[in-house]
Amino acid sequence: MTEIQERLDELKELGLYRRMRLVSGPQGPRVVLDGKPVLLLCSNNYLGLADHPRVREAAADAAMRWGVGAGASRLVSGTMTVHRRLEESLAMFKGTESALLFGSGYLANTGVVSALGGAGTTIFSDELNHASLIDGCRLARGETFVYGHCDLDHLEWGLQQAVRDGDGRRGRCRPPLIVTDSVFSMDGDIAPLEGIVELAEHYGARVVVDEAHGTGCMGPDGRGAIAEAGLEGQIDVVVGTLGKALGSYGAFAACDAQMAAYLTNTARSLIFSTAPPPPAVAGAMAALDLLFEQPRRVERLQSNAAVLRDALAQEGFDVEGSTTQIVPLVVGDASTAMRVCEAALDRGVFAQAIRPPTVPEGTSRLRLAVMASHTKDELREAARVLGKAAMAAGWRPSVGRPVASGQTLATEDAAGSSAHQAADAPPPPRAGGVFDQQAESIARAA
Ligand SMILES: Cc1ncc(COP(=O)(O)O)c(C=O)c1O
Repeated sequence: MTEIQERLDELKELGLYRRMRLVSGPQGPRVVLDGKPVLLLCSNNYLGLADHPRVREAAADAAMRWGVGAGASRLVSGTMTVHRRLEESLAMFKGTESALLFGSGYLANTGVVSALGGAGTTIFSDELNHASLIDGCRLARGETFVYGHCDLDHLEWGLQQAVRDGDGRRGRCRPPLIVTDSVFSMDGDIAPLEGIVELAEHYGARVVVDEAHGTGCMGPDGRGAIAEAGLEGQIDVVVGTLGKALGSYGAFAACDAQMAAYLTNTARSLIFSTAPPPPAVAGAMAALDLLFEQPRRVERLQSNAAVLRDALAQEGFDVEGSTTQIVPLVVGDASTAMRVCEAALDRGVFAQAIRPPTVPEGTSRLRLAVMASHTKDELREAARVLGKAAMAAGWRPSVGRPVASGQTLATEDAAGSSAHQAADAPPPPRAGGVFDQQAESIARAA
């Protein structure tokens, strides 16, 4: 047996083996999955725009007008007019001077964080940040401090150490950098953005907020969680993806003109990668136009999410952590989560199980994602199906989560955390460690 096969077998034993399922047709509310019609309850096509006729037409027209590929990095063969137009619209949408397109949200986050988190910078990263922000921290040559999830006291404690040690406005070199998801992708809760901005001002830190799941889903005209919190203009870089509510592919960093020039010169994932394809860019532009014209899609998404959360609560699921269109059903054990997923699938509802390293050990879950294009009846029926699937898989939701996330942290602390480079300081109120946990699981799976 090869070493690769041994590793694959190990993943299977741990209930962590992944495979891709085959979907026929677009990412609508109902799809044919591995040959069987199901309700799709785990796609990020939140506003139903990926398959909207106007978005499809715009992409098809762009292919005819500008071709399919962008040819090279924009620093090599130039920015196409279609890129420039979308950047201008995105800057207007996000209320910033500039916006810079990237190939994807993953590339935008790794590029922005590594560009701003160079040697001499301490990066402060929420323990439940998306993998792309985590990987940005890893690529940066600065130090990373992982603060407890949404824990402003822990973040402040870390900032105090960094300032004491010489970062920031009183210090020798580069300001600290705080990076956070706005809407957490696996939990559906929202970062305490106002508190983060206050701390950043006080300690002279820069802030990067990833609005992958906020853009198009909340705030006035779907402008995101930052707009909802009244913080537009107060965040150094806002990252958004075109691949979720905006129904296409690609991403952007919205910021002031000076920051855009800096990122153009330093973000390696922008400099050394082919620009987004014209059909994807034009598709996103059409989606943005639809968002401006039809803001009720956002209201519909939010009211659909409320209906699903209520219906799930009636089935005995604990959904209190989520206030958004992302609703996790935290099962705990990875194999049990897979069994619930398969049982739901047998009954016609597809909600993918999410396991480590995507989520912390012991918190495997079904991550439900609502779309504006679901009907309320479909969502109520899905909740009933999920209730039955849980019972069939031997998991009683009303008993609660087998492992609380706090416990996971404690286990990690015991193992020690090399990501916490403020380690010579007195023990923090809480120490995060999921960063390391992800590193370990990825290493095991790699
Ligand atoms: C919070 C968050 N940020 C960034 C990304 C990456 O975006 P993209 O899919 O455009 O690469 C994702 C996608 O899964 C995400 O959930």
